[in-house]
Amino acid sequence: MSMLPQQVKLVEVGPRDGLQNEKQEVPADVKIELVNRLADAGFVNVEAASFVSPKWVPQMATSAAVMAGIRRRPGTLYSALTPNMQGFEAAMAAGADEVVIFGSASEAFSQKNINCSIAESIARFEPVAAAAKARGVRLRGSISCSFGCPYQGAVPLSAVADVVARMAALGCDEIDIADTIGVATARQTQAVMETAAHAFHLERIAGHFHDTYGQALANIYASLEVGVRIFHSSVAGLGGCPYAKGATGNVASEDVLYLLHGLGIATGVDLDAVVDAGQFIAAHLGRKAASRAGNAIAAKRA
Ligand code: HMG
Ligand code: MG
Repeated sequence: MSMLPQQVKLVEVGPRDGLQNEKQEVPADVKIELVNRLADAGFVNVEAASFVSPKWVPQMATSAAVMAGIRRRPGTLYSALTPNMQGFEAAMAAGADEVVIFGSASEAFSQKNINCSIAESIARFEPVAAAAKARGVRLRGSISCSFGCPYQGAVPLSAVADVVARMAALGCDEIDIADTIGVATARQTQAVMETAAHAFHLERIAGHFHDTYGQALANIYASLEVGVRIFHSSVAGLGGCPYAKGATGNVASEDVLYLLHGLGIATGVDLDAVVDAGQFIAAHLGRKAASRAGNAIAAKRA
């Protein structure tokens, strides 16, 4: 049994992956408060915006206002999704610290999500990657459907390996292996992570798990066992994907923090402050947070 790491980096994706999927419109000032609370809680990386077509994802149309309104905490990276040069220019105008190109290991999902093939997406990402490098901005690559696809079902390991290699060739600083529809199980997770690590630096691979089938914490633990040290999570378990029907939110940040801190792994994040942020956004949305640990801690306090 391998040793678990002493420290893990968490990327809080709730303001983007979470709120992009909300039926109700969330005003920019609420998003701004949420981002500020999460940065203050200690997340060194907050995914705050998405510069995509407002026709495709209307919930993210306020991204420029959000980026303009947040308080920039020194040392925190504020990331934004950028599917093409138009998105990149908008992200630069908004002062994003990191841009995220997002592709897929599944052809069918690539078409549904970004309206092009995998090969075409890589061609679109090339100028974005070059521009990011030229401006000294961090570049992250996200790979959807690395464990299964809502349209084509199984996704072979070779398809994941291929897209990881292409993202690596584009110069990505970090690559996210995403379980868009939350179907992965623990041993499969290890096989996919080990495959990805043949094509990219293990210490710069991130696990992005949606919790649709309730396996995300197990998959994070399984990933830790094979050396993954970066994970994405979403406060209050917000989220889903507008182009993956039935996909629920990302694994809840509060639950991940409870797991990691219980293992003695340092995150630099204050769980109590994240619980507060989770209760804040859940109250705004008018429903209970989808975080077991968050709700338990909130109930114990009351
Ligand atoms: P397209 O229609 O093929 O693009 O969409 P186009 O270049 O032909 O342009 C069509 C129109 O879109 C034009 O406007 C462009 O100006 C506009 P019109 O002339 O018709 O008025 N447009 C843009 N507007 C604003 N910002 C832009 C932009 N680009 C074009 N950047 C496109 C292609 C990629 C733009 C579209 O398919 C799109 O926006 N898709 C976004 C899908 C998305 O955001 N999905 C959710 C995020 S990914 C995710 O959640 C997965 C992840 O969490 C990992 C995981 O869990 O799997 C990351
Ligand atoms: Mg996602």
